[in-house]
Amino acid sequence: MDIYEPAEDSYLLQKEVQAHAEGRVLDLGTGSGIQGLAAIKSPRVREVLSVDINENAISELQKIIRQQKLRKIKVLKSNLFENITGKFNTIIFNPPYLPQDEGIEDAALYGGKKGWEVSEQFFHKASSHLISNGNILFLFSTLTNKEKVEEIIGHHLFQFKELSSEKMAWEKLYVYEITKTDLLRELEIKRVEEIHFLAKGKRGVIYKGIQERAELIKTHFAKKETISIAIKTKREDSQAMGRIENEVNWLKILNKKGIGPKLLFSSKTYFAYKFVEGALFLDWIETARKKEVLAVIKNLLNQCYIMDNIGVNKEEMHHPHKHIYITKNHRPVMIDFERCSRTENPKNVTQFVEFLARIKKDLKEFTYDPDKLRELAKEYKQSRDLEIIINFLL
Ligand SMILES: Nc1ncnc2c1ncn2[C@@H]1O[C@H](COP(=O)(O)OP(=O)(O)O)[C@@H](O)[C@H]1O
Ligand SMILES: [Mg+2]
Repeated sequence: MDIYEPAEDSYLLQKEVQAHAEGRVLDLGTGSGIQGLAAIKSPRVREVLSVDINENAISELQKIIRQQKLRKIKVLKSNLFENITGKFNTIIFNPPYLPQDEGIEDAALYGGKKGWEVSEQFFHKASSHLISNGNILFLFSTLTNKEKVEEIIGHHLFQFKELSSEKMAWEKLYVYEITKTDLLRELEIKRVEEIHFLAKGKRGVIYKGIQERAELIKTHFAKKETISIAIKTKREDSQAMGRIENEVNWLKILNKKGIGPKLLFSSKTYFAYKFVEGALFLDWIETARKKEVLAVIKNLLNQCYIMDNIGVNKEEMHHPHKHIYITKNHRPVMIDFERCSRTENPKNVTQFVEFLARIKKDLKEFTYDPDKLRELAKEYKQSRDLEIIINFLL
């Protein structure tokens, strides 16, 4: 494999490395070694680990280190973070950033089909290898797609600052200094890792991560387990105030009744709860058996009934499709409680029954008459007797 020759991009990044690298430095995809060799010249840099996937690059750099008797720098073969342990003050990355050309393979040039895939892999693991107030010195080109790069940075709860740029014939090069956002730092104190964007809801942005939890069991042995968690934050463009606090308050109340994903921890601006592994209700129905569907509907009606009794409206229960997940064990878990509000006129059961009447056409094995079901919903408003509805469906 050829070693990537230093070019304009390398020199642009090198200047910023001299100015901004410090402490323990990781030089990822070192190639000729130009960044690592620049870093060790800085008095602020204590030690450098230069890595590359390319064996030739590694042995060439080792030769230089031996010849010049360099002490601050070590080399290691690694594909991105694969063989890396520990945390660094600075991570330097000049990624392969060109969109893949048909039929040509060169790990030093091509960053995947679209050019940014390798960068995305990088950001997925980067935070675990960077100290809380460390920095990443990152080079990319407009050929990679600038908006996409900035989106990937934000999706991993990092923030960026442009350090320098250079216009070339076909592209423009940028060096960004990338640091952790306050939210990312806070989540890492809670031992959440591999945090990345999951979904944009109507009002919130949801991230996913993993958290190692030690559960004290009877014998005082701490059993360690890693769980997937979801983190909900307010969308920046959302005007709704107090939504997070509202959802946190209701999750606390409803969790006690077995409703909603388990709340783990929260602040005024975000909360973390269990990630629900499962399929959306209407997708799940397509492959489920009638008996299973019945049990799930019964369970959901009961959850609605509990909310009715508490005197809270979840809202949107007449089109809850995106807010009901069915787990592997056929347990329905509702999400999104941010519009919950106290009411004297609870509508959870009646709205959900209206939904059941509407989706009758998707429930091919069921024979109930949707209009009769709607009538029973009206009766329920008066009697608050859930049994008549459940018995009717059976
Ligand atoms: N605990 C969770 N487990 C799994 N997926 C979740 C979880 N919370 C949110 N999501 C995903 O994020 C999306 C948006 O979440 P939601 O709470 O509906 O936000 P919003 O209030 O902005 O609509 C959901 O449709 C779902 O795909
Ligand atoms: Mg929603």
